[in-house]
Amino acid sequence: TQTSKILILPGDGIGPEVMNEAIKVLKAFETPQRKFELQQELIGGCSIDIHGKPVTDEVKQAALTSDAVLFAAVGGPKWDNARRGLDGPEGGLLQLRKAMDIYANLRPCSSTSPSSSIAKEFSPFRHDVIDGVDFVVVRENCGGAYFGRKIEEEKYAMDEWGYSEAEIQRVTRLSAEVALRHNPPWPVISLDKANVLASSRLWRRVVERTMVAEYPQVKLVHQLADSASLILATNPRSLNGVILADNTFGDMISDQAGSIVGTLGVLPSASLNGLPGDKMPKTRPYGLYEPTHGSAPTIAGQNIANPVAMILCVALMFRYSLSMEAEAQCVENAVRKVLDSGLRTPDLGGKAGTKEMGDAIVSAL
Ligand code: NAD
Ligand code: IPM
Ligand code: MN
Repeated sequence: TQTSKILILPGDGIGPEVMNEAIKVLKAFETPQRKFELQQELIGGCSIDIHGKPVTDEVKQAALTSDAVLFAAVGGPKWDNARRGLDGPEGGLLQLRKAMDIYANLRPCSSTSPSSSIAKEFSPFRHDVIDGVDFVVVRENCGGAYFGRKIEEEKYAMDEWGYSEAEIQRVTRLSAEVALRHNPPWPVISLDKANVLASSRLWRRVVERTMVAEYPQVKLVHQLADSASLILATNPRSLNGVILADNTFGDMISDQAGSIVGTLGVLPSASLNGLPGDKMPKTRPYGLYEPTHGSAPTIAGQNIANPVAMILCVALMFRYSLSMEAEAQCVENAVRKVLDSGLRTPDLGGKAGTKEMGDAIVSAL
C-alpha cells in the first residue's frame, strides 16, 4: 500500500466549505493500494484567534514533511484592521510559501478547461474573442515586493521590490520547462515594466540570457505588464503560452484571467519548487495547491461558494506531486461533465449549492 501524507489547510471564509468538497473527491480515489493520510491544521485568521499567529512552526514543519499541501483561503474583515503583512492572515500563506521555497506558482487558464460551455455561456467576453484561449501564468512566488524590506510609519511606507539574478533564473528555467512539456513548445511571454523599474530591467536581462543560453528552442517574448492587461481583454489568444511574471504582476494578471471564464471560482493553482522529472536542484519536491481566489467573506457560510477551483487543485496535486496523471485527468473530466450538464453555483449563474456541486463531481468520476 502506498500512503501519501497530505496536509489540509482550510483556512477562513469559504475555505472550509470548498475544502470539504475537495476532500470528498480526494477520498474517492482511495483504494486498498493507495491511501491518503490527511492532517488538518489551522492557517490564517483562525490560527491567529487560537495561537496568536497566522501559521505556527508545527504547521510549517508539517508542510515540510508532507507529500503535498492542500490550501483553501485565508483572510477576512474580522482581521483587516489588526495586524497585516506577514503577521496578518495572508501572512500565514506567505510564510508557508517562503518556508517551502515554492518559488513558482502555476496558474492555468483556458477557455476549454474546466469547460468550454461555461466560457461560452458565462464569460463576459464574446465567444470569438476567448475561443481557444490557453495559457498558464508562472508567477514568481517567493521574492519581489512581497518579501522585501518594509517601512510602515504613520506618514510614510515603503515596500522594497528587489530581485536577485538567481531568483529570476530559477523561475525562468521552470517556465521554460513548462513550455517544453507542450508539443510544439509553447512560447514564454515574460511580463515586466522594464521601461520604469530597475528590478524589471534586471528581470528582462536575466530572462533573456537564461532563455537564449539554455532554452534556444523556446520562443521568448517580452511584454510590458500594463499592456499585457489590455491584451488579455482584447486579444487574449495572442498571450497563449507560458506567461512568466514576477510576484506582483503575476498576482494581478492571474486574477484578471478569472474574467475570461467569468469567475475566480474555477481557477486552481500549484506552487512548486520544480516540476516532476526536471533537472532543477532541490532537496525534495514540494507542492502547495491553492485556488486563485480568496476567502470570499461575503458569501461564506451559505453553501453557495464554487468548489470547482479547490477540486481542480486536487487534480493538479495528483499531476505534480503524486504521479497520478490518469487520476488528474479523471477529476478534470468529471468537472467538465458536471459544468456542461448545467449544474452550476451562483457565481456561474446557477442555483447549485457547494455540497451539491461536490457530490455531482464525485458521482461523475
Ligand atoms: P476573493 O477572491 O475572495 O473574492 C473576489 C470575488 O470573487 C468576490 O466577488 C467573491 O465572492 C468571488 N469568489 C471568489 N471565490 C469564489 C468561489 N469559490 N465561488 C464563488 N465566488 C467566488 O478576493 P477579495 O474579496 O479581494 O478578498 C477577500 C479576502 O480573501 C481578503 O482578506 C484577501 O486578502 C483574501 N485573499 C486570500 C487569498 C488566499 O488565501 N489565497 C487569495 C486572494 C484573497
Ligand atoms: C493569491 C493571494 C495572495 C497573494 C494573498 C492572500 C497573500 O492574493 O494567492 O493570489 O497576493 O499572493
Ligand atoms: Mn491574488
